[in-house]
Amino acid sequence: MPSDLPANLFGEIDPPQRLLMGPGPVNAHPRVLRAMSADMLGQFDPEMTGYMEQVMALCRPIFGTDNRWTMLVDGTARAGIEAALVSLVQPGDRMLVIDFGRFGLLLREIGERIGADVHMLSVPWGETVPLDQIADAIERIGPKVVACVHGDTSTTMAQPLDGLGELCRAAGALSYVDATATIGGMEIAADRWGVDVVTGGLQKCLGGPSGSSPITISDRAAEHIFARRHVEQGIARPDLADASGPRIASNYFDLAMVMDYWSDKRLNHHTEATTMLYGARECARVVLTEGLEARYARHAAAGRAVVAGTRAMGLTVFGDDACRMTNVTAIHIPSGVDGEAIRRRMREDFEIEIGTAFGPLAGKVWRIGAMGYNAMKHKVLITLGALEACLWAEGFACPPGAGVEAALKAWNG
Ligand SMILES: Cc1ncc(COP(=O)(O)O)c(C=O)c1O
Repeated sequence: MPSDLPANLFGEIDPPQRLLMGPGPVNAHPRVLRAMSADMLGQFDPEMTGYMEQVMALCRPIFGTDNRWTMLVDGTARAGIEAALVSLVQPGDRMLVIDFGRFGLLLREIGERIGADVHMLSVPWGETVPLDQIADAIERIGPKVVACVHGDTSTTMAQPLDGLGELCRAAGALSYVDATATIGGMEIAADRWGVDVVTGGLQKCLGGPSGSSPITISDRAAEHIFARRHVEQGIARPDLADASGPRIASNYFDLAMVMDYWSDKRLNHHTEATTMLYGARECARVVLTEGLEARYARHAAAGRAVVAGTRAMGLTVFGDDACRMTNVTAIHIPSGVDGEAIRRRMREDFEIEIGTAFGPLAGKVWRIGAMGYNAMKHKVLITLGALEACLWAEGFACPPGAGVEAALKAWNG
């Protein structure tokens, strides 16, 4: 061991056992962690490509789709978002963003970097966008691509998406949805919504680590993307001829090449992140073994319990009750209470992480998540009990035991 480096650099990774009850990441399911310790395979080994095929099949029902092109983009959830947008949107294209929080603003930022003519349909944080307003905006703006977040963790609101795809198709627009924060916890219905591309992440309701972004792409969107196929020179092949559309402005996130890798063409684009693929496969197996309906019901029970419990403690919940995500809840920090002091006490005295907030909500709300492996009754009750103790310690008197009691009642329906 080199003597000029501090000894702690050579200690094993041994993180504290925190209970992650914020907006994500959450504790990964132990089965997922175990699957991720399996050994490597060569990227074209038949076992490996077999696992890739299995991941495609396992992810389809979770996206609510029959789309052939259902696979993984390597990278965190934002990798899936960038891959979708850079592959769908061409410089100069008109793009409409349905915006109700921080991640709507991220869609604008990515669209602008691509060089799109981005139009925003924005509502105040805590609300969602009515479908008739979306219809008007599509008619007025005539976008080539409409982009929207499903559940925006920054505001904890979930945008209703039934009917969105129909509006887009009628107007000749492609549609994109960021479902990072809801996939595996709230229903994702890519086919029923009629949307073209949906992306997710593992680290929230799917109960895995961050680092892989499941994606589904309709045939219609795939056709559009393949019309922009320009295989990188060093791996060009006669059976993958260049198309006439403009080249996608990212190599790594070029979904035409990524799809050619995930098809029987097995284009040697990137080296699939083997360990993340094992993790994603196990996440999907855990989800489908539990059953989608049971899983959504479990997240809904957890959301109900957090809302009822915090209200019974005399706290107020942020945002519109009608459009609340089930898996993350924002709670107003009462006046006179130091929000960061509460978070510190939660972490130091109880080993529990709850979330802070961004933008207009910074310093105003905490965010409590109950997702994936953590959307469990005892974890919600422990979190609320700890919160009560921390509030008392910081001088906020809440009715003793009321939060846990109300949460328990709400969990049981
Ligand atoms: C709705 C939404 N989109 C995108 C992201 C970005 O995910 P990642 O940090 O994995 O890139 C998040 C993460 O919190 C999110 O909640």
